Amino acid sequence: MKKRVGVLISGAGSNMQSLVASSRKSESAYEIACVVSNNPDAVGIAWAAEQGIPTRIIAHQKFLTRQLFDAALNDELQTHHLNLIACAGFMRVMTDVILTPWAWRMLNIHPSLLPKYTGLNTHQRALDAGDSEAGCSVHWVTADLDAGPVIAQASVKILASDTAQTLAARVLEQEHKLYPEVLQKIAEA
Ligand code: GRF
Repeated sequence: MKKRVGVLISGAGSNMQSLVASSRKSESAYEIACVVSNNPDAVGIAWAAEQGIPTRIIAHQKFLTRQLFDAALNDELQTHHLNLIACAGFMRVMTDVILTPWAWRMLNIHPSLLPKYTGLNTHQRALDAGDSEAGCSVHWVTADLDAGPVIAQASVKILASDTAQTLAARVLEQEHKLYPEVLQKIAEA
């Protein structure tokens, strides 16, 4: 039985698309059971719906507290009988309301070589620090933002000519390879 994966997005959803593409390979150990966005305008949610994947928008602005939003998100995710959740550009800080029921079943991809540069603007911060390499990390989601245990990383060399944009594009290519590989290994385990 393939493992059922729910994907959480907020924006373009290119990582989600790479997970969907890899889930369609015959050897895939997982299938994408749903895609949920907190952002009604997320380009990725329209794409997923066109692909026939069950989608749901839960606009966080409609909830008075983070906990109420997380409860609605958890309710939705529970209906899909998921084995795993993959956060893919999901731009929300999460509370125990969602973290506890999905502990050790929720992954995230972050565009830095953690533990360096949790949070935002990771590429510019790597450039400003004069780092020689940058990259991405897949990690378990815990209450500490971007600081759960790292499962795997991929790195790229920083070039003298790099801007945050060019570096982000090269790191994103690695994200699109790393995330499906990690999910496959976890789904096979
Ligand atoms: C990725 O760089 C991801 O690591 C970060 O936000 C970006 C999302 O891109 N958290 P996309 O929505 O998957 O295209």
